[in-house]
Amino acid sequence: MDQQRTPLFSGLLRHINNHPIPFHIPGHKKGNAIDPAFKDFLGENVFKMDLINIEPLDDLHHPQGIIKEAQELAAEAFGADYTFFSVQGTSGAIMTMILSVCKPGDKIIVPRNAHKSITSAIIFAGATPIFIHPELDENLGISHGITPSAVKHALQVHPDAKGVLVINPTYFGIAGDLEKIVSIAHEYNVPVLVDEAHGVHIHFHEGLPLSAMQAGADIAATSVHKLGGSLTQSSVLNLQGDRISHERVQTILSMLTTTSTSYILLASLDVARKQLTTNGYQMIVKSIQLADFARTEINNNLSYIYCVGEEILGTEATFRYDPTKLIISVKNLGLTGYDVEVWLRENYHIEVELSDLYNILCIITPGDDEKTIQILLKALKRLESENMNDVITREVNVKIPDIPLLAILPRNAFYAETEIIPFSEADGRISAESIMVYPPGIPIFIPGEIITKENINYINKNKQAGLPVQGLQDETLESIRVIKEQKPIY
Ligand SMILES: Cc1ncc(COP(=O)(O)O)c(C=O)c1O
Repeated sequence: MDQQRTPLFSGLLRHINNHPIPFHIPGHKKGNAIDPAFKDFLGENVFKMDLINIEPLDDLHHPQGIIKEAQELAAEAFGADYTFFSVQGTSGAIMTMILSVCKPGDKIIVPRNAHKSITSAIIFAGATPIFIHPELDENLGISHGITPSAVKHALQVHPDAKGVLVINPTYFGIAGDLEKIVSIAHEYNVPVLVDEAHGVHIHFHEGLPLSAMQAGADIAATSVHKLGGSLTQSSVLNLQGDRISHERVQTILSMLTTTSTSYILLASLDVARKQLTTNGYQMIVKSIQLADFARTEINNNLSYIYCVGEEILGTEATFRYDPTKLIISVKNLGLTGYDVEVWLRENYHIEVELSDLYNILCIITPGDDEKTIQILLKALKRLESENMNDVITREVNVKIPDIPLLAILPRNAFYAETEIIPFSEADGRISAESIMVYPPGIPIFIPGEIITKENINYINKNKQAGLPVQGLQDETLESIRVIKEQKPIY
């Protein structure tokens, strides 16, 4: 196929250049009825492309024309048998893949540090989650992915699972041996579902971790908008092989998707695919070079700030890594990652991707250049010199308690009658809420799990230490919503 073609984008341009007179939604009609200040800022063209699924423009729910062609080109580009465009982010694509394999009561093997769209899909599906703890990094205070041995063990105990879900790579760019995980799961004929929110680009450069499709996974939800050059909210769902029916995926995606799909988002997927296939390699080479330069400068010139490099490799969970992610550890500077995030914003207008207790994460993409890297380096240098006198060696504390017992399905907990009780009295009760402790961002319990004294003590200790504990409706953590106990009727 000719990857230079952009059938969807070109089809929209053809339509726009015909100067159609719309008697259909959207009612702003090519921007004529848009607030002038907004239109002034965005320009006219964006409103001309804000179209709807009229016949010449195809329909994402039943693609037959330009959307179908664009999806076929994307499938070839990603090495998939089918690619489905999502205008509801990777969250929508993740829910689709889980609902495509799980019926009520089915088991699905998932990492404990799963994105909330995974928990939502488990609730919608009425599935039973079989959790695997991700590997914890005691040096950085972050969690990595799940390992082949953990997947093997989970499948030995639950060979009837309907899927294994893997996050590859993690938010921090760390990947396990996905090919091995796939081969273990396929021995049980269990499909592998990949959360590839942070890995659209890895398919296009052999120096990066293997993509889901390259590793032989069955289905992958991939955020093109995060690192692949399309607009925010646009993602793809890639499918290969015959373990999961493409008709079922199309039906479920359609059930979860708005009928008013944005053609601006869809067109941005079409052009991002063209750019990734025709020029992606060179663009990624540039990102890697810039990131490697920044990493070397930080590690050679700064004493208390450290940027993670390939020395992280070598464990089962750290099989490959994405060097374009700068994991910058500030734990020895006497500051938290949150402090550093705020300091960078206030002093240099720098916005980081994320921060936690010990680190900040900066992503380097083809949108960066020497200038942006130099500003980051200058800022980090000043940050270190201003805090040199306060440096301390901080112990990383990422111990987490065992995963609690699941008493009822998350869906049943979600719909059950609940009551609010003091947190200190919750031992033995079934939680109706999730609670997360950072680092390493793993839920301590989710709806349906039995709260133990150990959980309560662990959360109280984190709270006393001033560590972020999030998720409960009551932000003071004094009370918690639990499943109401029914008194027996005699
Ligand atoms: C690991 C992971 N999975 C899934 C998602 C959801 O992606 P999206 O924002 O495209 O819905 C995110 C978002 O940050 C994520 O970090």
